[in-house]
Amino acid sequence: MKQYKIAVIAGDGIGPEVIDEGIKVLKQVAELDSGFQFNFTYFPWGCEFYTKNGTMMDDDGIEQLKEYDAIYLGAVGFPGVPDHISLWDLLLRIRKGFDQYVNIRPVKLLKGAHLPLVDVRREDIDMLFIRENSEGEYSGAGDWLFKDQEHEVVLQNSVFSRKGTERIIRYAFERAKKDGKSLTSISKANALNYSMVFWDQVFEEVSAEYPEVETASYLVDAAAMLMIKDPKRFEVVVTSNLFGDILTDLGAALAGGIGLAAGANINPERDFPSMFEPIHGSAPDIAGQQISNPLAAIWSASQMLDFFGYETYGKLVLDAVEQLLVEEKVLTPDMNGNSSTSDVGNRVVELINSLV
Ligand code: NAI
Ligand code: MG
Repeated sequence: MKQYKIAVIAGDGIGPEVIDEGIKVLKQVAELDSGFQFNFTYFPWGCEFYTKNGTMMDDDGIEQLKEYDAIYLGAVGFPGVPDHISLWDLLLRIRKGFDQYVNIRPVKLLKGAHLPLVDVRREDIDMLFIRENSEGEYSGAGDWLFKDQEHEVVLQNSVFSRKGTERIIRYAFERAKKDGKSLTSISKANALNYSMVFWDQVFEEVSAEYPEVETASYLVDAAAMLMIKDPKRFEVVVTSNLFGDILTDLGAALAGGIGLAAGANINPERDFPSMFEPIHGSAPDIAGQQISNPLAAIWSASQMLDFFGYETYGKLVLDAVEQLLVEEKVLTPDMNGNSSTSDVGNRVVELINSLV
């Protein structure tokens, strides 16, 4: 039997609550199939760890994680620890250390989820964002000169390498080709006269290798408007680190809110573990009350199943989530329900069993 070793970093705030429910779901799916099993190993890393040890993870944390098949992450960040420390010292160390250069974020409005737009049909909101996840505007390159002096200067540089730009665009073309969908590139070449002119050029070059994939290209500001006015234009979308970060939060608002938004950080070559996480943060305002919505964490568990090649089970989990939304009986307060985090996880497990 195939054993998948999963490193669990439940993290801070609501992270552990929502991850518990995702793990319930993964265990249930493994029960249905005698061909594989999950072994979960918990890492106590995050802001509490930082308060005790002065670092967000063990110094050799990346070495420790290397031997796992995937990482399942809740959220990190808590008042008292500056957000740039929790982000750079854990999340970005993992994303960069494991060359997880693809960030996949589905923006799909499930049946039963709240449709926030007028004059738009539910089926029109069905996009797959492929965000560059290793360089670009989040390269961390820059300087802070003459700090706190009158003439201080800060530099924050973007890095667009040929390798980095080509591989993300090619990944997106492969995905669009596989799914039989169009591919839209989002950039900003009118204002960013080096990086985004280069991005557009590479998109054109790679496009020539995929004559069967229909393409479109928009400036990021226009794309933001069109995602609201005419979302059906967007099927598979490829964009830079910063633009992808911003547009997928817009996407989350279109597709049922922060409680439903999931994201996968993928190393396609599988040289290193990939990481699956809900997009939301640690929500300190509601932590510890068992009222957080676990559906985003459960959706990211379904992305993990897809990644391992169990796409039928990935879909089964999403079908169960969709059914839960349609029946409108067991929902957390953010979705106008009055059920607890674990009630929702338990109901998803029941629905999975009723659907197989
Ligand atoms: P947040 O996503 O934690 O919360 C924003 C709002 O959405 C809050 O009102 C919260 O209660 C609500 N919310 C979020 N997830 C929810 C869920 N599953 N169910 C119900 N309600 C939910 O974002 P915020 O407040 O900006 O950040 C809080 C902390 O989380 C910060 O320290 C931040 O750095 C960190 N963070 C971590 C991320 C990660 O680990 N990937 C991503 C975003 C933020
Ligand atoms: Mg974000």
